[in-house]
Amino acid sequence: MAFRSMEELCAELQEKRATASAGGGEKAIAKQKAKGKGTARERIDQLLDPGSFVEIDEFVTHRCTNFGLEKTKPLGDGVVTGWGTIDGRKVFIFSQDFTVLGGSLGEKHADKICKVMDMAMELGCPVIGLNDSGGARIQEAVDALNGYGKIFYRNTLASGVIPQISVIMGPTAGGAVYSPALTDFIFMVDKTSVMHITGPAVIKAVTGEEVTSEELGGAKTHNTISGNAHFMAKDEAECFAQIRKVLSYLPPNNLDDAPVAETNDPVDRADMSLRDIVPTNPNKGYDVHTVLEKVLDNGEFTEVQAGWAKNIVTGYGRVGGRPIGIIANQAAVMAGCLDIDASDKASRFIRHCDAFNLPIVTFVDVPGYLPGVTQEHNGIIRHGAKMLYAYSEATVPMVTVILRKAYGGAYLAMSSKSLGSDIVLAWPQAEIAVMGAEGAANVVFRKEIEAAENPSAMRMEKIEEYRQAFATPYVAAERGLVDRVILPEETRKVLAQSLAGLENKRTARPSKKHGVIPH
Ligand code: HXC
Repeated sequence: MAFRSMEELCAELQEKRATASAGGGEKAIAKQKAKGKGTARERIDQLLDPGSFVEIDEFVTHRCTNFGLEKTKPLGDGVVTGWGTIDGRKVFIFSQDFTVLGGSLGEKHADKICKVMDMAMELGCPVIGLNDSGGARIQEAVDALNGYGKIFYRNTLASGVIPQISVIMGPTAGGAVYSPALTDFIFMVDKTSVMHITGPAVIKAVTGEEVTSEELGGAKTHNTISGNAHFMAKDEAECFAQIRKVLSYLPPNNLDDAPVAETNDPVDRADMSLRDIVPTNPNKGYDVHTVLEKVLDNGEFTEVQAGWAKNIVTGYGRVGGRPIGIIANQAAVMAGCLDIDASDKASRFIRHCDAFNLPIVTFVDVPGYLPGVTQEHNGIIRHGAKMLYAYSEATVPMVTVILRKAYGGAYLAMSSKSLGSDIVLAWPQAEIAVMGAEGAANVVFRKEIEAAENPSAMRMEKIEEYRQAFATPYVAAERGLVDRVILPEETRKVLAQSLAGLENKRTARPSKKHGVIPH
C-alpha cells in the first residue's frame, strides 16, 4: 500500500486553503472592487484587530445538485466565518462573499452562520454579520429558506443576550432583510448597500411606481426615511470605525457590565456656558447636542439614528468613564415634540440600553405629543405607549434632567418619576405642567378673559399669573417628583454622583413569560 508523503498532504491542504481564500477568483474580485467594495476577508481584516481573525469552516461546501450546481462547489460556500477581537475583546463574525455565487445563502452557508451565532451565544460575545448577498440561493430552494429561518430564530433568541450588529455592504433583498431587522443595529454604507423586500422591477409591475434601487432602499433612505438603519458611513472604512466605537460602549453580553473607560475629564468640571444654551423663553429653539457635548466626557457623544426622527436624539456617551445611553428631546426640530417615529426610536433604544445594563440618562424639553390627524390615524396612541412601556419596564439606573419644558403626557413619557426614574433633576428654568402657560391660561381663565374690558391685556395677565405659579420646577420639587433642582453647570457633577449612587441598583419585577408591548 502506497502512502502519500507528508509534503504532498501538506501541499494539498495549503492548496485547498489558497483556493478557499481566493473566493470567486480574480474577475469576480475585480468586479467587486470596481463597485468600491472590499472582499469578504479584507473586510474582516479591516474591522478586527490586526491578525486576530481565526477562521473556521473554510472547507464547507453545499451538497446541492439542482440546475448543475454540483459542478460549482466553492470552498467556504460564499461566507467567511470565525472569531477575532475588537479592541482586545472577542467577537464572532460572518462575512458574505459576493464573489462566490453572489454571496447567496444556501443550506451550508446558513449552517456556517448559525454555528458562529451559537458559539457567540454560548461564550457570551457580540456577533457581527457583514451582509453582501443576492439572497436565497435560488438553486437550493426550500433549503435556502430554511437556512434563513434558522438564522431568524437564533437572532430572536440572542436578542437582549449578546449585542448583534448587522452591516449591509451590498444588496440585501426579500426576506433576507429580516435577519438584520432582528438585530440591535443596522449599519449601511452610502451608495453600495441596499435593502428592500421587493425590488424596483417588482414594484413597477405591481403598483406601477418607478423608483431606483438607491431611492428605494439605499443607505440614505433607510437612515432618514424608513428608520430601518441606525448608522450610515461614507465608505467601508468609516463604517468599521463606527462599529468599533459602538461596541466600545457595550458589554459582551447581558450578564456583564459595560467597560468603564479611563478619562482625564474631571467629573466636577463646571461649564458655565450651559447657562446660556437653553433659552428661558420656552418658545425659542436650540440644539440639544450642545448640552450633551458640554456634559459628557470630553464632549464625546455617539449618536444612534442621527438622520431619522431628529426631534428626539438617542446615543451613547460617558460620564466619569461610565458608558450611558442618552435620550434627549431636540428643541431645534419640531420643538422637540414626540411623534410616532420619535416614540419608536426612543423606546427601542431604551430597551436596548436596559437589555445591556447601560444606565439611561434622559434630557427633557418637550412641549407634548405632535397634534394631527395623520399622527392619530397612524397610531400615535400605540406608538406613544411604547415609551411609557419601555421606561416602566427598564430596571437599569435612570436619571432624568429636565432642561426646560415638560408638559402633559409627554412629561410622563420622558422618564418621569412616576415611570420609575430613580433621580429626577431639573434646571431652574424647568416648567413642569399639564401644558404651557398660554394654553393653560386660555382654558382656566376663559370666562374672566372674555368678560374683561380689555381681553387681550387680561389674557397676558393671566398667562403671567399661571407662569409664575406653575411654570417652575418647584411645584414638582415640593411633591418629590423632582429630586433636585440644580444649576446648569452642576449637571455633569450631579450626573456622576447620581450614577455612582445608583450603581448597585437591583429591581425585582413580577415573574412572567414576557409582556405584551404595544406595537
Ligand atoms: C443564486 C445568485 C443569486 C441567488 C446572485 N447570484 N444572486 N445565485 N441565487 N439568489 C449569482 C448570479 O447568478 C451571478 O452568478 C453571481 O451571483 C453574481 O451576480 P450578478 O447578477 O452578476 O451580480 P450583479 O449584477 O451585481 O447583481 C446583483 C443582484 C442580482 C442584484 C443581487 O444578482 C440579483 O438580482 N440576484 C437575484 C436576487 C434575488 O432575487 N434573490 C432572491 C431574493 S428573495 P455568475 O455565475 O453569473 O457569476 C430572498 C428570499 C429570502 O432572498 C427569504 C428569507 C425568508
